[in-house]
Amino acid sequence: MPPIVKLVAEERGQGTPLVLLHGFPFDHRIWQAQVEALSDICRVITPDLRGHGSSPFPDGVYDMDTMAQDVLALLDRLDVRRAIWAGHSMGGYVLMAALRLAPERIMGAAFVATHPLPDSDAKRAQRLDDATEAIRLGSTRIVCGMLDKLFAPSVSATPALAQKTVDIMVNTSPVGVAGALRGMAGRPDSTGTLRSMTVPAVVVVGAEDQIVSLDVARNMADTIPGATLVIVPGAGHMLMLEQPDATTDALRPFIEDVL
Ligand code: MLT
Repeated sequence: MPPIVKLVAEERGQGTPLVLLHGFPFDHRIWQAQVEALSDICRVITPDLRGHGSSPFPDGVYDMDTMAQDVLALLDRLDVRRAIWAGHSMGGYVLMAALRLAPERIMGAAFVATHPLPDSDAKRAQRLDDATEAIRLGSTRIVCGMLDKLFAPSVSATPALAQKTVDIMVNTSPVGVAGALRGMAGRPDSTGTLRSMTVPAVVVVGAEDQIVSLDVARNMADTIPGATLVIVPGAGHMLMLEQPDATTDALRPFIEDVL
């Protein structure tokens, strides 16, 4: 396992810890609205995963286990033994790795626009090519190429929202982009992890997510014992930015049940 890196994180509120993990290639800022809304009931911790935001971006493959170990080490430093975890997309892959590595540290799991499936061969090959390109030529084409798929097609993203999203994505270093792409390319099937979960779980998905389909989200919720599914209308993959209040409302009752 590569050495753990010291993640940069923000914290707000008091009480039971809630860890919000961002997806690729974003950072903790995607959760700003949820931090503001949920810090009245919990201690909300928003890390930047390795390679993203202000956290270190070592060379290498950011496999999901290593990213999960980084988060667990952060929680150790913050003196947090158990927390509610929520993971968006790649952050959900990291949460599934943490469920394998340290299930006793997870009080409840919210899976936001994510899924347990490994990459197809074609997707894996594309990710590895993109990683090589990111290192050689920079990552702007790759991250900006994602933009079309991030938002609900029926609701045009405001220029401000699109710009905020691009600003976060282009802030991710090419080394970080490459590391995460290579790590995601090698991730395992997490279906068995979900099937054996024993803590409360919720699956939250945008009704118009072009990356995680409703069928995939429904299957995910059906796989996890006792999980509920919440579909956020008028939202795509970036539901926490597109429909911040509805996304918070999807998470709040689940969190209150776990508290
Ligand atoms: C993400 O939002 O984290 C990515 O879409 C995940 C992925 O590329 O599989």
